[in-house]
Amino acid sequence: MTSSLRLGVNIDHVATIRNARGGEHPDPVRAAFAAAAAGADGITAHLREDRRHITDDDIARLKDRLTIPLNLEMAATEEMLEIALRHRPHAACIVPEKREERTTEGGLDAAGQHNHLAPFVTRLNEANIRVSLFIEPDPRQIDAAIRLGAPVVEFHTGRYAHLGGEDQTAELRRLSDAAALAAKNGIEPHAGHGLTFDNVIPVAAIPQVKELNIGHFLVGEAIFTGLEASVARMRSLMEEARDA
Ligand code: PXP
Repeated sequence: MTSSLRLGVNIDHVATIRNARGGEHPDPVRAAFAAAAAGADGITAHLREDRRHITDDDIARLKDRLTIPLNLEMAATEEMLEIALRHRPHAACIVPEKREERTTEGGLDAAGQHNHLAPFVTRLNEANIRVSLFIEPDPRQIDAAIRLGAPVVEFHTGRYAHLGGEDQTAELRRLSDAAALAAKNGIEPHAGHGLTFDNVIPVAAIPQVKELNIGHFLVGEAIFTGLEASVARMRSLMEEARDA
């Protein structure tokens, strides 16, 4: 399927279920193949410092076997940089990471951490890995991404997903203004976090957004309908948003 809006399926929580029993089932690589068969354009996996879900071996197997692009989510640490440079995924999304958090809470402070992030962006760029910075939809952070030379930003949609009513509308406006600002400056905007069948359409309708990365909801929904059906339905809602 070709579309101007790509779907990256995050398979971290397939690994969460596997790790609950410490064996090999369910295998996130098998999930990646099912997601690709159902219309995913790419696979996203976050190798966390504590390896609570995806493992080093998962990354090696995904890189070896996938025929669609792999997007590695990583903290800006020397260990993760070395892993990214060894496996050379299609893309690497730099995310903030705290050990005690349940999920990635809030975007990277690209503005405040410019000096720390600069060598990571440079080395990933030099290795032809498409670097993305996971940031809040905030002009200050976009300005930092421009100065850092990141070709892609991914806007954190967690706030949008958790708000309701007028607050959600205001956050959607912030996302849409941020996507326009990034695109105007030659940066490709992506978005993700907390997206579901119920809230995806307005984000998918933002014309400059080129990719959505969605995980937890799709894996949860797969319990009821199967992963292929869950991914296919998300894909068709995204198409619907684009066509409207
Ligand atoms: N994008 C990034 C950068 C993330 O860190 C995550 C969560 O790991 C996602 C997208 C997917 O979020 P969710 O699992 O809530 O769909």
